Amino acid sequence: MSHLIAPSLLAADFGNLERDCVMINESQADWFHIDVMDGRFVPNISFGMPVIKAINKVAKKTMDVHLMIVEPEKYIKDFKECGADVLTVHYEVCNHLHRTMQAIKDEDMMAGVALNPHTPISLLKDLINDIDLVCIMSVNPGFGGQKFIEHTYSKVKELKELITAAGSDCKIEIDGGVVQDNAPKLIEAGADVLVAGSFVFNSEDPIKTIEALKGV
Ligand code: DX5
Ligand code: ZN
Repeated sequence: MSHLIAPSLLAADFGNLERDCVMINESQADWFHIDVMDGRFVPNISFGMPVIKAINKVAKKTMDVHLMIVEPEKYIKDFKECGADVLTVHYEVCNHLHRTMQAIKDEDMMAGVALNPHTPISLLKDLINDIDLVCIMSVNPGFGGQKFIEHTYSKVKELKELITAAGSDCKIEIDGGVVQDNAPKLIEAGADVLVAGSFVFNSEDPIKTIEALKGV
């Protein structure tokens, strides 16, 4: 399977959200990446359910919802109703991650776990067969447009080894600071999904930028 591209709407023009969603529909992008921030787990607040519902009305592709919020288990059904196909929670806020993965799958969504840059891959060892996607944060979550953390490559390799050894089909997603230059090395290390926000939306021709990332 070739890798997937997930433009992050955090970098879209919120005054022209429909236009930017149509652009993603018409591009070679595979997923819509949707960042929910609560001002508690991360020092920023983005948007919530009404906005996601509005995106879902226009979006014709997989809705990949990344929850950067505390107590994400409280809102699993709500995000399903908003149209989420993939629901990712942060390792750092879940005391009962196994239960949360099951609850997400019970709602027929792919269950994802995101790891902050300081969180080691080894913590997923006993759970890897229960996870559909691991999102490796390659920046500290909370803001778009930050610099890629180089240590990410070795985390991707370590995760790929864990997944292969377990015989699991868990996908590896990279989120933060993804640009044309680091994309090939990430794919080579084992990444399946590349999230890109500012690199896509701040470019002169987002459709071409997505095409270039897809062509890596
Ligand atoms: C960061 C978010 C990312 C962000 C990526 O907390 O989870 O999805 O939108 O933005 P860029 O690609 O600009 O780093
Ligand atoms: Zn994200």
